[in-house]
Amino acid sequence: MRVLIVGGGGREHAIAASVAKSKKCDKLFCAPGNAGIAALAECVPIGVMEFDRLKEFAVNEKIDFVIVAPDDPLAAGLVDVFEEAGIKAFGPRKNAAILEGSKAFSKDLMKKYGIPTAEYENFDDPHKALEYLKSASYPIVLKADGLALGKGVLICRNAKEAEDGVKEIMEDKKFGSAGNRMVIEQFMTGREVSVLTFTDGKTIRVMASAQDHKRAKDNDEGLNTGGMGTFSPSPFYTDEVHEFCLKNIYQPTVDAMAKEGRTFKGVIFFGLMLTPQGPKVLEYNARFGDPEAQVVLPRMENDLLEVMEACVDGTLDGIELKFMKDAAVCVVLASDGYPLSYEKGKEIKGLEAFEGKDRYFCFHAGTRFSEDKKVLTNGGRVLGITALGTDLKDARKKAYEATEWVSFDNKYLRTDIGKAIDDV
Ligand code: GLY
Repeated sequence: MRVLIVGGGGREHAIAASVAKSKKCDKLFCAPGNAGIAALAECVPIGVMEFDRLKEFAVNEKIDFVIVAPDDPLAAGLVDVFEEAGIKAFGPRKNAAILEGSKAFSKDLMKKYGIPTAEYENFDDPHKALEYLKSASYPIVLKADGLALGKGVLICRNAKEAEDGVKEIMEDKKFGSAGNRMVIEQFMTGREVSVLTFTDGKTIRVMASAQDHKRAKDNDEGLNTGGMGTFSPSPFYTDEVHEFCLKNIYQPTVDAMAKEGRTFKGVIFFGLMLTPQGPKVLEYNARFGDPEAQVVLPRMENDLLEVMEACVDGTLDGIELKFMKDAAVCVVLASDGYPLSYEKGKEIKGLEAFEGKDRYFCFHAGTRFSEDKKVLTNGGRVLGITALGTDLKDARKKAYEATEWVSFDNKYLRTDIGKAIDDV
């Protein structure tokens, strides 16, 4: 098959690394890709929101299968565009990607179908939101309805912070039109777990659990980021939790979407909170997590393309997923200053240290080539350094060792990825 991956970050590098190993893949393209993906795929300089150019490329290049990885093009209907052109595409259609694209939609869906989640109210009008906050208990969570690069969630400790938050989201439009609506949600306590699943609209298959570290600084301090590191599996995701979620959260979500006439095919990423009252949904994503994919996919033993095709074809019931027992840890190397302001264009040295090592991965998130073919930093998150280990502690030790192999001028990393493992 001739395959096109749409996207250009660490998640897409992890997907490309798995697809490149597939016996079904004859030729791999990535739009736009990055300097790391270029070792596995032919990168084409087309942006993820340039739908006409992507379609034209896929038609001209006789692409058999497209994988749409990021949230923005999924929410805007890129899968529908390829399908209308007669090309198979992995990912939810626009009417199903709303599961991530609108927090208000997903909360209403959960309420309607009895899927455990925090109490909430949706608001279109900032004055009504402010009125509601007068009798709320704190802390409380404000969520911009739409996509906001994972940053549209504010945890407010008191009424003043919440009032400021409503202003930021709905009046100042800090997250653009994502803040035209807003969800106000009860704050939940517990451990957070990310669970990635495949679905063909009827059957759901669970990949593996993982845990992200969203804050920029050690001890979960600093600003929210896209994610500074992950580990998989989560030791807190027990068999009992899994059985509960399968019965009360995962399958009911797939069935609810089908009942609503929004059959979901692709990856559903369940952001869960393991509360004292049991697991509840924090959020849904309609795609692989980033950097969750960088620890989940290296552990997966199936042919990824075969599984993705089964999702599109509706034959996922014939597939059992296989994951190695080995654990994985990913530490993100970022540009100092991320997620606010940071410098780009720094030369990255030492990348060759990863060559020929099949239990270490250097996934490129924000990199590009210079004219003289040096690899330069090109984003806030630059590299995801992943290592496999016999257990989580071994994987963490190895991942941190490997972070020393590469250098660039403004390299920044958290030093406590996987610290929660020590609580087990
Ligand atoms: N790591 C969280 C996300 O991908 O949204």
